[in-house]
Amino acid sequence: MDAEPHILIDEVAERLCRAQGHSPLDYQLAHPEAAVLAAARLSACARSRYAEAVLSKMGADQIVVVGAGLDTIGHRRPQPRPDQVWLVDRAGVLAWRAQLFDEAGLADEARYVSADLEDGFDLRGLEAAGLELSRPVSVVWLGVSMYLTPDLCRRFFAELADLAEGSSLVFDYHVAPELRDDAGREFADAVAAVAGRGGEPWRCSASSELVTGWLADNGWRVEDEIDEAMVTSAGFFDQQEFLSPMRLVRLVHARNQR
Ligand SMILES: C[S@@+](CC[C@H](N)C(=O)[O-])C[C@H]1O[C@@H](n2cnc3c(N)ncnc32)[C@H](O)[C@@H]1O
Repeated sequence: MDAEPHILIDEVAERLCRAQGHSPLDYQLAHPEAAVLAAARLSACARSRYAEAVLSKMGADQIVVVGAGLDTIGHRRPQPRPDQVWLVDRAGVLAWRAQLFDEAGLADEARYVSADLEDGFDLRGLEAAGLELSRPVSVVWLGVSMYLTPDLCRRFFAELADLAEGSSLVFDYHVAPELRDDAGREFADAVAAVAGRGGEPWRCSASSELVTGWLADNGWRVEDEIDEAMVTSAGFFDQQEFLSPMRLVRLVHARNQR
């Protein structure tokens, strides 16, 4: 979409979009200058790039993507084997995903595990699908926390407390309204209005201290936490016509410290 250097190269996502009559990619290409669209694609690409970097550093061989949607991490480099990836989402979303991959002529061989985080998150469903809980697991939880209540986010971290030592967690969250800059505030207000009308309101935002506390309560230590814009290299935004940083999304890498 934007000028080099690219944050993310995702050919599978492009093929999924191209297989559709009118895709989000068409919409983005038609309006690259629209501030809300530019901020949305920066967020989506930055969080994916961050997770990719963490997973490759960790040498992860059991990857669980929670709230997977159309996440393509199992298809990007360094490419894990399909039997090393579990995709968790609501049953209807997973069925839709399978259909889109099918229509695009793409194999999606990771294991699907249906779960609704509103009902809590039970690791036994993953174990039944072949995940070895005695070995470290890398959990990727991107673009999801904001759709849950703070209480559900805490419950999710509590469920992950039983993962083996050495497990890791990559996720993003929204900073509380008073911690946002103007760009972050404007983007959040614009998207929240549309998402709320569509029945998927943004419900959780927090400070870094709060999130660190939720994690620590459940045996997780923050290894790294950054603003999403920090994913880019120095001078990146000077080279961009449409992308600019905003203060809204924080990216976190935590390790199980038991
Ligand atoms: C914005 S998409 C993010 C998709 C992908 N992880 C990414 O980074 O682009 C949010 C995903 O979270 C899932 N999700 C939201 N609430 C959920 C819930 N209560 N239980 C399970 N999945 C949920 C949605 O179905 C959707 O696939």
